[in-house]
Amino acid sequence: MKQQVLVLPGDGIGPEVTRCALQVLNKVIAGSELDLTMVEGAIGGSGYDQYGDPFPEPTRALLPTTRAVLFGAVGGPQWDTLERRFRPEQGLLGIRAAMGVFANLRPAILYPQLAAASALKPEIVSGLDILILRELIGGIYFGSPRGIETLASGERRGVNTLVYTESEIKRIAHMGFRIAQQRKGRLCSVDKANVLECSELWRDVVTQIGKEYPTVELSHLYVDNAAMQLIRDPKQFDVMLTSNLFGDILSDAASMLTGSIGMLPSASLNQDNVGMYEPIHGSAPDIAGQNKANPLAMILSVAMMLRHSFERNDLALQIENAIGTVLDEGLRTPDIAPAGTKAVGTVAMGQAVLDALI
Ligand code: IPM
Ligand code: MG
Repeated sequence: MKQQVLVLPGDGIGPEVTRCALQVLNKVIAGSELDLTMVEGAIGGSGYDQYGDPFPEPTRALLPTTRAVLFGAVGGPQWDTLERRFRPEQGLLGIRAAMGVFANLRPAILYPQLAAASALKPEIVSGLDILILRELIGGIYFGSPRGIETLASGERRGVNTLVYTESEIKRIAHMGFRIAQQRKGRLCSVDKANVLECSELWRDVVTQIGKEYPTVELSHLYVDNAAMQLIRDPKQFDVMLTSNLFGDILSDAASMLTGSIGMLPSASLNQDNVGMYEPIHGSAPDIAGQNKANPLAMILSVAMMLRHSFERNDLALQIENAIGTVLDEGLRTPDIAPAGTKAVGTVAMGQAVLDALI
């Protein structure tokens, strides 16, 4: 059966890393019996430029027949002054909501070859393998009321609303416990229950759900402490379960433990494992079009897609092993090259992964 992959290269370095990732995808699926049709769409700033909308209707119309979305990156300074609803980020938030991808998996794995690129000492990060599971379509990102209003006094007031229902907390909690069962069996739920009622409910519901998973060791941390522990002793964590905003912040922090944000893929899944796969690095407009971007996070996102939406762990491993090989060979893009050493460009890194595929 043919299955559709919607490719959304987006802005900045998105198109160049997507190009590498598609070459890798085409090579691994050749002769694999996985029959994929790739269709391309516009999103973000380029969606706005083409259609006046960061989440254009022709892109939205492709979703019902799509099994997986490969998403490059969105954003750039030329769109920052637009009215909020036209900004590139609204395209990303819009498609997440439209697909119902409530579970965002952000693995932070330190490749042994890159231990020196981490901001922390090698003994603190070597062997690091944590998964941040971030709730993605609720919380303060989507709560209402929201807006900037002008009071009678003439002063402006900004408002956002942090809100989670029990069912929203339950579905992400179940996902967290199931993932922890398949890993080291430890789940740390992150909240701010000492201050926020919404977090108090979060902790209560997660604790209840935990009773259904007696083999998983559940702990809770306040988000400020979690941020500190993540830097102090990151290897204490297996799976971290977070709300939307806390996961946004902690996953950027975790990326630096692994050497570079240019190495980290992500998967966003709905109830049926329809997924969106994107590197967590964003559009990096400062280096766009200069053949400097690290394509590995995007290529690793393809591996996650094959694993989660197409149940082809074998093909995912082929890609991950190929990346291991090129790192062993010493190839480094500028973001992961030690100071003073020679780095390769996006195209050469992509080609090396292609060559290393067996
Ligand atoms: C991320 C990004 C997005 C988010 C932005 C670009 C809207 O930071 O995926 O982490 O905040 O979710
Ligand atoms: Mg972020």
